[in-house]
Amino acid sequence: MSKDPSHQPEPETMPFFEVFKKFKRFKLFEPSLGVLGFFFASVCVILCFFYLDYRAVVKGFRFPGQSERFMWLQTNGSVKDPRVEFLEQKGGGCDVFEGDWVWDESYPLYNSKDCRFLDDGFRCTENGRPDLFYTKWRWQPRHCNLPRFDAKLMLEKLRGKRLVFVGDSIGRNQWESLLCMLSSAIPNKDSIYEVNGNPITKHKGFLVFKFKDFNCTVEYYRSPFLVLQSRRPPGTLQNVRTTMKVDQMDWNSAKWRDADVLVFNTGHWWNYEKTIRAGCYFQVGAEVKMEMSVEDAYQRSMETVVHWIDTKVNSSKTQVFFRTYAPVHFRGGDWKTGGNCHSETLPELGSTLVPSQSWDQFRIANAVLSAHSNTSKATEIDILNVTRMTARRKDGHSSLYYLGPEVGPAPLHRQDCSHWCLPGVPDTWNELLYALFLKHEMTSKFNSSTYRAQV
Ligand SMILES: *[C@@H]1O[C@H](CO)[C@@H](O)[C@H](O)[C@H]1NC(C)=O
Ligand SMILES: *[C@@H]1O[C@H](CO)[C@@H](O)[C@H](O)[C@H]1NC(C)=O
Ligand SMILES: *[C@@H]1O[C@H](CO)[C@@H](O)[C@H](O)[C@H]1NC(C)=O
Ligand SMILES: *[C@@H]1O[C@H](CO)[C@@H](O)[C@H](O)[C@H]1NC(C)=O
Ligand SMILES: *[C@@H]1O[C@H](CO)[C@@H](O)[C@H](O)[C@H]1NC(C)=O
Ligand SMILES: *[C@@H]1O[C@H](CO)[C@@H](O)[C@H](O)[C@H]1NC(C)=O
Repeated sequence: MSKDPSHQPEPETMPFFEVFKKFKRFKLFEPSLGVLGFFFASVCVILCFFYLDYRAVVKGFRFPGQSERFMWLQTNGSVKDPRVEFLEQKGGGCDVFEGDWVWDESYPLYNSKDCRFLDDGFRCTENGRPDLFYTKWRWQPRHCNLPRFDAKLMLEKLRGKRLVFVGDSIGRNQWESLLCMLSSAIPNKDSIYEVNGNPITKHKGFLVFKFKDFNCTVEYYRSPFLVLQSRRPPGTLQNVRTTMKVDQMDWNSAKWRDADVLVFNTGHWWNYEKTIRAGCYFQVGAEVKMEMSVEDAYQRSMETVVHWIDTKVNSSKTQVFFRTYAPVHFRGGDWKTGGNCHSETLPELGSTLVPSQSWDQFRIANAVLSAHSNTSKATEIDILNVTRMTARRKDGHSSLYYLGPEVGPAPLHRQDCSHWCLPGVPDTWNELLYALFLKHEMTSKFNSSTYRAQV
């Protein structure tokens, strides 16, 4: 497939070639089939012209969100979209996380210079990134269509409610993306403010943005492990500086439980460097487990999170999401040994290679979450299963462009291949969040109305 983004993947051309291959298999030029073959070939050529002509029209007039959808060439000459809409009843079973990245000129959904809620670290274009390709990809599920993001509609559905992100800085990346997506519909930006007057910085414990006209808040709580990190208990070894209590939730969890929408993520801090190497050992009950591995601690803490969701969160009020691990793309090293990703300008369109470390992070959380969904406990957890789709977006990272517009690009050996440029990949996670949020809204409404009808 062409690597030139201006001719980006055109899945709609594939069926035609498949049809053509089938004709070839019929051995069209054998005398006995010659007439039939000629007939088919003519139809084929005519259809082909019609099709190309149609594509030209589509290119010229851009029906937003439509052009990719005319995938199937029907034998009767009409062109039909085989995919259902995810929000329709028939779209219910669609796995929205299976699909492809498709080039879409109508993207991005906002520009970073119009959004004041972004860290400098995510403003890649303003920080000197030369290409804009990374802003132009839309996620197309294989078997259904996602609704186009509608900020007004989402805000309307959030009226009087709290939407809360909890997690590490990749969670903050996603939270800032959603602030930009939602605020694009609000002309008066002063009506959106942090309730304590705090600026967006890397190290704040939490930030609560209010959309005044909708009386709703979109909040971020920094909690990279989700469980409780605390001072070393007296009487422990000198090399223990802090402990991670893998059986207790972060103190702030009391502030999360009444949210209407909760979006968790964790993973990037569950490694040796950021725990044991830094003097943070794991603790269960009163006991510091000097031998406990990072993997075991991660699994144990995921179980704590899931148990907390089951027992403390009111499932009739709160919709709980867990976003899976967002892969990093350091090549030739890691963040401190000169790993890089700055020359990536295109997604991986074919294979879905994920760095193995990412899979380990993914597997542990995924195992706990799928065990939870198997045993149908009290609260359903919606998985934002973004790991595989995101693995293809090696082009989406901040790379050299995270230091702010004044400073310019970072030195080549100091790259950020874990955070994401905005607009960019986290916008897609939020489009999926939006779709699942609306779906949930519709099914719970439907159920409560049928319930009322029965009473
Ligand atoms: C032609 O295609 C349309 C959809 O585009 C379909 O509804 C109709 O049944 C098709 N007709 C025939 C004869 O296949
Ligand atoms: C705003 O929403 C909160 C719930 O988050 C509610 O208690 C309050 O009454 C609402 N205020 C107005 C003015 O609607
Ligand atoms: C759970 O939330 C529902 C809907 O907001 C509310 O009616 C119910 O009282 C809540 N239950 C508890 C135990 O707080
Ligand atoms: C969940 O159930 C599916 C089949 O229903 C099974 O394949 C899978 O192994 C189960 N997962 C866990 C973690 O028990
Ligand atoms: C997420 O997707 C992967 C494939 O990409 C699949 O193996 C896994 O079971 C999914 N997890 C959940 C919880 O749906
Ligand atoms: C709503 O009802 C449908 C079928 O009527 C059921 O499958 C679904 O689990 C229900 N959802 C909730 C949230 O109760």
